[in-house]
This record gives sequence, C-alpha cells and structure tokens, in this order.
Amino acid sequence: MSVEGKTKPVTTQTLVQMKARGEKIAMLTAYDYSTARVMDAAGMDAILVGDSAANTMAGWDSTLPITLDQMIYHAASVVRGVSRALVVVDLPFGTYQGDWRDAFASAVRVMKESGAAALKLEGGEEIIEAVRHIVSAGIPVMGHLGLTPQSIHKFGGYGLRASSDQEAAKLLHDARLLQDAGCFAVVLEKIPAYLGVQVSQELTIPTIGIGAGNGCDGQVLVVQDMLGVSQDFAPKFLRRYADLHSVMTEAFRHYLRDVRSGDFPSSKEEY
Ligand code: KIV
Repeated sequence: MSVEGKTKPVTTQTLVQMKARGEKIAMLTAYDYSTARVMDAAGMDAILVGDSAANTMAGWDSTLPITLDQMIYHAASVVRGVSRALVVVDLPFGTYQGDWRDAFASAVRVMKESGAAALKLEGGEEIIEAVRHIVSAGIPVMGHLGLTPQSIHKFGGYGLRASSDQEAAKLLHDARLLQDAGCFAVVLEKIPAYLGVQVSQELTIPTIGIGAGNGCDGQVLVVQDMLGVSQDFAPKFLRRYADLHSVMTEAFRHYLRDVRSGDFPSSKEEY
C-alpha cells in the first residue's frame, strides 16, 4: 500500500525485488477487460497478454497467425481492466525476428497504443540485438526460452525442450545473454525441473516457469486452461483450479430450458 492508501502498482522492479526476498511471483494470461479486472482485483502480480490469444480467443492451432494490431487490441483491453498488476504483452511472430529496426518499431507501437508496461519476446542469441535496442529505449523486456511456440514448425511439436546436455547448455547461455542485455525476467517453458532450478539460481532476474518445475521464481498458466474452460488440453504441468466448462455448459442449458419453457423472463424481469 502507498501513503495515500491506494494499492501500489507492480513494476518490473517489484518482481526483481520479490525474487531477492524469495517471494514467488504469480502470473496468468488474460486477453480481455473483464477477465483482467477480476484477476487484478484478486491480486495477481503480473498479467501476460500472450499470443496464445491466437489459440484461446481465435481458435487457431498455433500462435503464428495473430497480428500486431490484434495483440494491441487485446493488450489495450487488458490494460483498461488493470490498476495494480504488471501488464506484459507478447510481440507476435514476424514482428521482431528480422532487422532490429522492425522489432523496435513493433515494440514502440505496442507501448504507445496499448498502455502496457512491458513486452515479451521469444528466443535467445538470435534476437539479442533487438532486445538490446528495445531495452535501451526504456522498454522493459521479458525473455522466453525453452518451448517457444512461435518456432513450432522448426521443432515440429510441443514436446519437452532442453532435455539433452547440449540443449540445456545453450538454454543457460541464452538466459545469461538475455539478463546481460537488460531483460527484467525470463519465462522458461516446458524444460526439465533440474534446469529450471539451475537457471533460477544462476540469474538475478526472476524466472517464470510453465512446465519448468517448482524451482522457478514464479509461475504462469494460460487462464482458459487453469479455469478448465478448455477440456482438450491436458499436459502434465497443468493444474485445473476450476471446471468452468461444466459450469458454463450447465448455465447455457439452464437458459435454453428457461427460454423454451417461457420461464424466462418472469414478470419481475420485465418493464
Ligand atoms: O502466449 C502465452 O500464453 C505464453 C505463455 C504460455 C507463457 O507465452
């Protein structure tokens, strides 16, 4: 709480300090105003406007099709629902992997047009020049290593990453590069738990895991998955905190019955 009695916004510095104090960081994805509002009021530390919106919001089978304009729309909606949590936005596929100038222009657009506080980029050494330029403009960057869904066609599947010694060494090298380039945190997706511990101990910036074990400094899940809206996605790392699929189905069926029977609206629900 601040001196005015208002809740203090979470900043990138807050997350770094949380790691230093040994406090775990909780992050979830959100793509719309209403969900972000509930999440923020519940006390979430960070909200990721993930390019997983391509899957959860638009029904694509990969994250590749989502555009910068669409990410900005989702990000601005989330920002309007948040007063405390740190809002981090994914730069989508094709908007930062080439020339650093294009990456810089994409980053500036998201920051100007969405009002978010930070960006997330997938990759290590290959994108380090872009990360450096974005950070040098005062834009906080979160890295993302391990399973990087924007490279799905390179890897050919969503399996465990960095399971060989060589890949693990490359991931550790990339994590150090991202920290040295000025990233304030790094997401580690679907890697062995021992490696999550090792990277988290090596870095002074927080690691946020998804399928990377309990040794990470924080955790992130996709909101539809943890709420149980989607039923067809059940990786080992996912814990379901609700069964919204059943709750929604029952509510829709109840409404259908009430409309068909003439029970809704009642006299109390008319003017
Ligand atoms: O897009 C996304 O939701 C993500 C998380 C899975 C980390 O990148």
